[in-house]
Amino acid sequence: MSDIAGLKDVKERVQIKIIETAKSPVKADLYKVKVGNFLLYGPPGTGKTFIVKAIAHETGFPLFMISPSTLLSSKFGEFEKNIKILFEEVSKFKSCILFFDEFDAIAPKRSSTNSSVMKRAVPELLMDIDRLNPDRERRVILIAATNNPWDIDEAVMRSERFDDLIYVPLPDKEAREKLFELGLSGIFIEKKLNFQEMAERSEGLTGADIKNVCRKAGE
Ligand SMILES: Nc1ncnc2c1ncn2[C@@H]1O[C@H](COP(=O)(O)OP(=O)(O)O)[C@@H](O)[C@H]1O
Ligand SMILES: [Mg+2]
Repeated sequence: MSDIAGLKDVKERVQIKIIETAKSPVKADLYKVKVGNFLLYGPPGTGKTFIVKAIAHETGFPLFMISPSTLLSSKFGEFEKNIKILFEEVSKFKSCILFFDEFDAIAPKRSSTNSSVMKRAVPELLMDIDRLNPDRERRVILIAATNNPWDIDEAVMRSERFDDLIYVPLPDKEAREKLFELGLSGIFIEKKLNFQEMAERSEGLTGADIKNVCRKAGE
């Protein structure tokens, strides 16, 4: 988590609601918090996938990283079959993280998809998600991420299926300064750099943008 620049509020929520809860089930029970389902949303390149990897690292839980391309296939019926296989695999683990990246493409609004496969498969996927933690023993952390939350199936968003919706914003000035520092730390540069000025002049850039700029500088 210390590699993540800025995002103080996000990190605090992730630390308490996801990491601590997963690591200390007894304490979590005492405070009546449970491992739940989380949605990370915000512009692309703001660190959502990065955060999920950090959560896996800190909890030590195995991570299933599922993107639309893992599940979708042009072959008829393949999506449903892949989902079935996925949940069978997940059920073998006592605890793990199930991460759906680009969730808007995995569970799209039914009104916006013409695909009969999706119309049938999405409700099934939701049922599988609901069945994830039937007893108190299993600790499956479900995290979904999206750049386009408004494209997600209405039933998912309405239904309180997510215990927490976490907005991951663009980095503020302080975070951009840290991103430049982190990004340029391994690169030998003769002139002393003014990170503060760089941060001031880079408003609107994402963490991914700044990472790319720094990489280019090192080439
Ligand atoms: N706040 C941040 N702190 C550190 N690195 C970041 C941050 N935001 C983005 N990055 C960098 O940008 C890369 C791409 O971010 P990513 O997590 O894929 O964004 P998203 O999933 O939100 O589209 C990450 O691998 C990371 O190196
Ligand atoms: Mg991502």
